[in-house]
Amino acid sequence: MPKKSTNTVWHQAAVTRADRETLHKHKSAILWFTGLSGSGKSTLAHAVEDYLHKLGVSTFVLDGDNIRHGLCSDLGFSDHDRVENIRRVGELAKLMTEAGIITLTAFISPFKSDRDIARNRVPAGDFLEIYCQCPVETCEQRDVKGLYKKARAGEIPFFTGISSPYEAPEHPELVVNTQDQTLDESIQAIVKLLIQQGIIKAPT
Ligand code: ADX
Repeated sequence: MPKKSTNTVWHQAAVTRADRETLHKHKSAILWFTGLSGSGKSTLAHAVEDYLHKLGVSTFVLDGDNIRHGLCSDLGFSDHDRVENIRRVGELAKLMTEAGIITLTAFISPFKSDRDIARNRVPAGDFLEIYCQCPVETCEQRDVKGLYKKARAGEIPFFTGISSPYEAPEHPELVVNTQDQTLDESIQAIVKLLIQQGIIKAPT
């Protein structure tokens, strides 16, 4: 997006990201959960946050439905609006890495190019894409929010997986099969990834 605000000068903070990471005793990172509605992104992101919080890790979850109540309440579900939704979330998550926090984002984020833009806004290794893989049939059967039923009835246009596309990640850092894996198995896989990447230390 072209920058419209001119005559702005970047102010360099005295307290750096490294200072904040030292304070928190872990590195910052973005855990970017992507997948269909009902694939378990929010459940998993919050469960991982709960686990990490108990280990003393500073975290924050940015959840699609919640963010659309405030920061992105002016956006709908056209391709154009989803692009802007993910752009804003990517920028917010980037700021949170500067704040020394592990941010967990739970957005469908259906377009590969938008996820790649968010990835490329932060240094290599800071962005861990986690694909919550689940067949649309299973998401539809779960239909926790009753939205698939409405989408099938034509009451919700551009519904991802039904009338709007979802581009699965080709090279995510982790695939979590939320149909076959238990919640605990998925949490452990993510914690293992964070340890392997040197973002958190192994709990003692
Ligand atoms: S995204 O495509 O822009 O990444 P986001 O994750 O913010 O979507 O919001 C998805 C949530 O909005 C879904 O979990 C669902 O509760 C709700 N929703 C409402 N309308 C739609 C729609 N047309 N397609 C997908 N999700 C929708």
